[in-house]
Amino acid sequence: MKNSTMNPTTATRLCASAELAEGQPLRVGVGDEQLILLRHQGICRAFRNSCPHLGIELDWQPGRFLDHSGNYLQCAMHGARFQLQNGLCIAGPCQGQALTAVAVEEHADAVWLSPLPVVE
Ligand code: FES
Repeated sequence: MKNSTMNPTTATRLCASAELAEGQPLRVGVGDEQLILLRHQGICRAFRNSCPHLGIELDWQPGRFLDHSGNYLQCAMHGARFQLQNGLCIAGPCQGQALTAVAVEEHADAVWLSPLPVVE
């Protein structure tokens, strides 16, 4: 397991590691913020659930984010598609923009909101 700078007594737990399977992103609420939490090639990643096109949530249905291939997040409104590894939009009205990444860490069989600043 990698070294972590996170303090589990003050960090925000997002889910159990076992709940976050490859190809099955989760919708997770943190305060007023809705996050898309996913595991891609074994690594946990999170993005704000807000499309760079109009700032609306991406879900097709609550917690359903992937396109038919399962290889991209897809916005339900106008179909923009985003890479899983970095949230970059590769097709659609906001092509070249990206979802806002949120730093997360996996530690002690859980996924945590990292105390590190938001990655832009
Ligand atoms: S609101 Fe997401 S593609 Fe238009």
